[in-house]
Amino acid sequence: MRQAGRSLPEYRALRKDGSILDAIKKPDLSAEITLQPVRRYGVDAAILYSDIIVPVHAIGFGVDIEPGIGPVTKDPFRSASDLKRLRDLDPVSDTPYVIETVKLCVDQLDIPLIGFAGGPFTIASYLIEGGPSRTYQETKRLMFENPELWGHLMDRLTQICTSSLVSQIEAGVSAVQLFDSWVGALSPSQYVRFVFPWVQKMFEEVSKTGVPKIHFGVATGELLELMSDVGADVIGVDWRVPLDIARNRVGEGKALQGNLDPAILAAPWSVIEEEVLHILNLNSGHPGHIFNLGHGVTPSVDPEVLQRIVKLVHQYRVGR
Ligand code: CP3
Repeated sequence: MRQAGRSLPEYRALRKDGSILDAIKKPDLSAEITLQPVRRYGVDAAILYSDIIVPVHAIGFGVDIEPGIGPVTKDPFRSASDLKRLRDLDPVSDTPYVIETVKLCVDQLDIPLIGFAGGPFTIASYLIEGGPSRTYQETKRLMFENPELWGHLMDRLTQICTSSLVSQIEAGVSAVQLFDSWVGALSPSQYVRFVFPWVQKMFEEVSKTGVPKIHFGVATGELLELMSDVGADVIGVDWRVPLDIARNRVGEGKALQGNLDPAILAAPWSVIEEEVLHILNLNSGHPGHIFNLGHGVTPSVDPEVLQRIVKLVHQYRVGR
């Protein structure tokens, strides 16, 4: 979850200035950046260096990533005529560099590589708002004022993100993660009506490949039951819901991912250690826990702290 850029001096040294979207277009560079946190931390899986906005950028919607802000567009999606700006993604011709990066990484890794895409609500919110938002006012306005157009927009994003995921799987990723990061802005009934059918379709398509599917969003406490029915194998949980409560909401038969509060990384080690062990204990006895942060690493985090956490998790034994 945006971990490399947030914490590693070697990342900043390689990445330099310029748009992250240009860096992503260079497979050698992107593969090296993907491998940096693996070498440094000894984590159990790598996440591809790319961004959720890459596919819509590649088909020419007109979206960029502004440093310190995130995805922005000067010409937001507001009416039916904007659908023309969202043609089908053809990964081989539109994002060959993503496919190439996956292949380069897989050649060099002896742990699984996770591919990913953005969930339709999260991508739609950037396209409609023109950038990050606190209220999602324009996104919700479009949903409620013009549900038919919302449906067409979701259809377009479902095609685009599904074919991106499938192309990454064909290139060799071992698992995929669908980041619908901002979907926690919706109530359960809004989620059921405006998001669930499309995410379900995405997972149905991806399921044909047989790779494990992870689904993550922030502030999704009230949506966890619904998200666990949408077709993923692993449900990501942010730090707001204790893992045992998340387990009750998600049910057995799924793995959980999470859920250390990234802000705790600035606390003294004894606090971090206690919290990590607490989280591990909360899910002990249940199969399936990918230990992770509840969201992304912030830029000021000391890489040494992350290294100590990885070591602590690896040393943990159930029942301790
Ligand atoms: O950990 C990794 O580096 C894996 C690659 C990765 C990036 N973005 C690279 C990146 C992944 C998995 C993402 C996903 C992503 N991008 C999400 C979903 C996960 C989440 O964090 O909720 C979202 C919402 C985005 C959109 C986005 N891209 C934002 C909000 C930002 C932050 C802007 C900033 O500078 O604070 C980005 C930029 C971005 N994408 C960075 C990285 C490493 C940091 C900036 C940079 O290096 O230029």
